Amino acid sequence: MVGTMAGTHIRFEFNPSLTDDALNTLFGDSWPDHEPCEFTDVLRRSLVYVGAFDRDQLIGFVYLAWDGGVHAFLLDPTVHPKYRRQGIGLELVRHAIELARARGVEWIHVDFAAEIQPFYEKAGFRPTLAGLIHLRDRSL
Ligand SMILES: CC(C)(COP(=O)(O)OP(=O)(O)OC[C@H]1O[C@@H](n2cnc3c(N)ncnc32)[C@H](O)[C@@H]1OP(=O)(O)O)[C@@H](O)C(=O)NCCC(=O)NCCS
Repeated sequence: MVGTMAGTHIRFEFNPSLTDDALNTLFGDSWPDHEPCEFTDVLRRSLVYVGAFDRDQLIGFVYLAWDGGVHAFLLDPTVHPKYRRQGIGLELVRHAIELARARGVEWIHVDFAAEIQPFYEKAGFRPTLAGLIHLRDRSL
């Protein structure tokens, strides 16, 4: 365990044992277009993933993809709708960043839709120019 939220039962863990069922349930409840998938390979290749739990229930998740050097990419911060706006999302990101710092990562990248920018600003990300290609978008 890496920490708890003051005054709550919410606890945070690095690389906890997580089933696809638990992750698909959280993502299904949290992301409108989520399709059930396998997470095993993604988790195995990540620098770290962080889970937030209310007792035994997974209620938050984030992970860092890694280039093997000084760059990591923050992906899929997710908090169950019933638990939002209590600071859990920021705490997940903070724990991931601190682990990356301890492992020698120098740059953490992220991209996001404009409406969610306040969340990333509060998490410490500064705006930058970046590029993105969606390879399944046939119009490209
Ligand atoms: C984004 C998400 C992880 C935030 O989790 P959370 O636990 O509610 O976030 P926090 O409580 O730590 O939010 C801290 C601050 O970030 C900002 N923030 C949080 N959610 C926001 C949102 N949806 N839109 C804009 N700002 C937001 C607010 O300033 C908030 O402070 P406030 O509650 O005092 O106003 C959660 O809304 C979620 O899972 N969304 C669906 C998945 C998603 O879109 N993930 C991001 C992909 S880029």
